[in-house]
Amino acid sequence: MNILAIIASPRGMKGNTGRLLEEVLSGVGEAGGETEILSLATLKVQPCVGCDLCHKTGICSIKDDYEGIKEKLLACDGFILASPNYIFSVTAQMKALFDRCCGLLHCMALEGKYAAVVETSGGGEDAEVISYMERFVNTLGANSVGGIGSPMAGIRAFPDEANLYGRARTLGRELCHCIREKRQFPEQEPFLGAFRERMSGLVEIMGEHWVFERDYWRDRKG
Ligand SMILES: Cc1cc2nc3c(=O)[nH]c(=O)nc-3n(C[C@H](O)[C@H](O)[C@H](O)COP(=O)(O)O)c2cc1C
Repeated sequence: MNILAIIASPRGMKGNTGRLLEEVLSGVGEAGGETEILSLATLKVQPCVGCDLCHKTGICSIKDDYEGIKEKLLACDGFILASPNYIFSVTAQMKALFDRCCGLLHCMALEGKYAAVVETSGGGEDAEVISYMERFVNTLGANSVGGIGSPMAGIRAFPDEANLYGRARTLGRELCHCIREKRQFPEQEPFLGAFRERMSGLVEIMGEHWVFERDYWRDRKG
C-alpha cells in the first residue's frame, strides 16, 4: 500500500508540520503502509496561469514538477496533505498546487482514493484550515479519513504532545485501514454527489472547448 505525503511548509520536514507529519507516517508504517514524502519546499510548482490547457488536453502548460506530482497522486493508494496555517489558510506553496490540480478536480480523478490532512499553527484556527484541505480532498473525488492539527509550543514542540502524537499515529493507521476495507463515508456523499453533478454538467456546457474533460466524463459514465 503506497501513501504519498505532500508537505507544503517552506521548512520542509524540519518544521512543526513536518514533526506532526512524522507521527502520522509512523502510524502508516505500523499499519503496513509504505510512504513517499514530497516537499513543496524543494519541488517547483508555479502558480496556475489560467490558460485552460489542462481542461483541453489533460496536460498542464507549465513545465515544472507539477505533472510528476500529478502522476504520483494518480498512482498512490492514499495521500496526506500537510501545511502550516499561513494567515488562516494553507501556504502559498500548497495553494499553488491546489490551483494546478484544477484539471484533476474537474474530473474528480482521485475518486476511490483516501486522504488525511495535517496542519500546524502559531496559535489556533486549526479547524478552518483542516476543513479547507478536507474539502479540497473531496473535490478531487477522494474520501477524507480525517485531519489533525495543533498550535505549536516552541520549535517542533506542541502542547499535550503525547496525546497529539497518539492521535496522529491513529490517523495514519486509520488511513491504511480505510484503504484496505474500502470504507464508505456516507456523510461525505452529499457533497461528492453534488460536486459530481456540477463538474460533469460544467464540462458538457464547455463542450469542445474542454474536450479532454468532456470525453473523460463521457467515458466514465459509459
Ligand atoms: C507567513 C506566516 C503566516 C502565518 N500565519 C499564521 C496564522 O494566520 N495563524 C496562526 O495561528 N499561525 C500562523 N503562522 C504560524 C505558523 O502556522 C506556525 O508557526 C506553524 O507551526 C509553522 O509550521 P512549519 O514549522 O511547519 O513551517 C504563520 C507563520 C508564517 C511564517
